[in-house]
Amino acid sequence: VSIVASSVEQSYIMIKPDGVQRGLVGEIISRFEKKGFLLKGLKLFQCPKNLAQEHYKDLKDKPFFPGLIEYITSGPVVCMAWEGVGVVASARKLIGATNPLQAEPGTIRGDLAVQTGRNVVHGSDSPDNGKREIGCGLRGVKCYLNRLVKIWQRG
Ligand code: TYD
Repeated sequence: VSIVASSVEQSYIMIKPDGVQRGLVGEIISRFEKKGFLLKGLKLFQCPKNLAQEHYKDLKDKPFFPGLIEYITSGPVVCMAWEGVGVVASARKLIGATNPLQAEPGTIRGDLAVQTGRNVVHGSDSPDNGKREIGCGLRGVKCYLNRLVKIWQRG
């Protein structure tokens, strides 16, 4: 992934059911926080089948699609909107290759996963898909589009 973006974008990051069940929510959120991106929206959510199909609509003709939908709907997921300069491509780098065995050590999948079909986290592949997927996964959740008031800096 080459990172050339210089504008503020949003990416939809989703911790998949295996990530939630394995207790990796804090670890994964922490990596995006430490990098310096801003968490703008979050919910814990049992994804219904129709929404999973909408989220992954570009893959609907792939042979692994039915298994992918079954996996994503098998337990709660954590849906998040993250914001920052170049966040879409940068998040893909932090997440690592689709096949965790090919993902570099230091990436989320490289450090925490083994199977393509259980690769713990999703990240949008373009700013347009970021917008679309946030609308889909965070449906009904307010995203805090302005900078949050830094309450800890007040007396
Ligand atoms: P894709 O969008 O190609 O990868 P990424 O998540 O890295 O953007 O595929 C979406 C998900 O589909 C992927 O995370 C896991 C699943 N998948 C399979 O189960 N088998 C496969 O062969 C591929 C390519 C993906």
